[in-house]
Amino acid sequence: MADRIPVLLSALLLLLAAPPPASAFVEELDDSFMESRGPDDIWLIKFYAPWCTFCKQLDPVWHQVGSELRSHGSLVQVGKADASVNPGCFICAGLTKEFRVRTYPAIFMVKKDVKYNYLGPRTKDGIMDFADRVGGPLVRSLRSLQLFQHAMSRHDVMFVYIGATSQLKGNYTSAAEELIVHTYFFSASRDVLPEGVSPAFLPAVVLFKDGTFFTYSEEHDGDLKSWIKRERFPNFMKIDDYTLYAMGDSGKLVVLALLEERFQSEESLRCKTLVEKVAVEHRDTYSRNFYFGFMEGSEYIRGYVMGEVTIPSFMVVNLSNDGYFLPPGPIATEDHLLDFMDAVLEGSVEARGGNGVLQRLRRMIYDAKTSLTPVFRDAPVLGGFLVLFPVSVAAVFFYLCCKNRPSLKEDEDEVMLMAPTAKCSKKLSEKKSD
Ligand SMILES: *[C@@H]1O[C@H](CO)[C@@H](O)[C@H](O)[C@H]1NC(C)=O
Ligand SMILES: *[C@@H]1O[C@H](CO)[C@@H](O)[C@H](O)[C@H]1NC(C)=O
Repeated sequence: MADRIPVLLSALLLLLAAPPPASAFVEELDDSFMESRGPDDIWLIKFYAPWCTFCKQLDPVWHQVGSELRSHGSLVQVGKADASVNPGCFICAGLTKEFRVRTYPAIFMVKKDVKYNYLGPRTKDGIMDFADRVGGPLVRSLRSLQLFQHAMSRHDVMFVYIGATSQLKGNYTSAAEELIVHTYFFSASRDVLPEGVSPAFLPAVVLFKDGTFFTYSEEHDGDLKSWIKRERFPNFMKIDDYTLYAMGDSGKLVVLALLEERFQSEESLRCKTLVEKVAVEHRDTYSRNFYFGFMEGSEYIRGYVMGEVTIPSFMVVNLSNDGYFLPPGPIATEDHLLDFMDAVLEGSVEARGGNGVLQRLRRMIYDAKTSLTPVFRDAPVLGGFLVLFPVSVAAVFFYLCCKNRPSLKEDEDEVMLMAPTAKCSKKLSEKKSD
């Protein structure tokens, strides 16, 4: 028990903590930033709050990112901004409002007047890749066959504009301006194309993935931006939490093999192989509606379904509405899996989860429960305080409101809106501010 006291004490001290000393590579920014920055400056900014432990955990990574970008001679400048500086109003301070920060820590890059929100893993590699991609040219020119091949070896999915200047090039560049947060954009002239790459017409936007290439056609694929959003993942891949979340705006369903985190059983490997086989062999039929992949470890997916999941197993998730589907029976063969997918498309399998009012309420309770359980386990008194304090504030609040109001119904949405701002959650953060 004695070793818990310093933990509690440091938690309390954290609440009262003074800002950490500024590092040489990371500048502390305030509300004057938008006026004082140069028009061509590129900034990578972390928004934090002094009481947020996830923000603290990011500090050393942020320092490394700052120092590494500096030593590479990058044009990207690194800063951080306390998003909680306006007392009593922790989401509406000047800069924070400008960037529409909803959760902490939030990472943005601002370039010209466009703000890009980073939603990937909070690792040095992830953030550096984002900084290089978004901070660099919108469309990177591949000037030789060697450069082309080098890029192909580094990127599983690669969009390339091929041809001279055209209206399509204009559309491509404007798509890149928005979607550079997600993927690289390249351009090349026809004489540097690798052997075997011969689009039917030029100019063209060509997508390289899954060992082949696809030529965009407006007639067939619709709007260019939506096509890029839809197709920017490999057909079959290892999927982590961030990727699965990001796959949401592709609009496709995801067929998942759920595996153990490590020491995968033979049964697990069978599931994974089966999904891969279907992904590869039935690509033409299903890739319009489905992505395929496997996930190692069930923590994220348990949160997604708000309950236990069997491992190994199969699941189809609909990220557009937080829904999911479980196979009605065991899946032993390729045909079973194909039948399951067809049934999902036909609507003959029960859709679970979703984002209806009841499910959202369930999610609030689930989130509160999961974030408080570890606190109760480690520090029951603090846990009790954390629960009782807001509950009693809410009770007083509702008491005061109800005296004047006949019904509580309207408050429901307000509670929903308030809940996410209080925690450092990635699930609920904004995609991209405009
Ligand atoms: C460019 O985009 C506009 C508007 O979205 C569209 O009408 C036009 O057909 C596109 N042009 C090409 C060549 O794709
Ligand atoms: C997935 O969710 C979207 C958005 O609610 C919905 O339009 C679509 O029909 C769902 N797909 C399936 C297969 O249920």
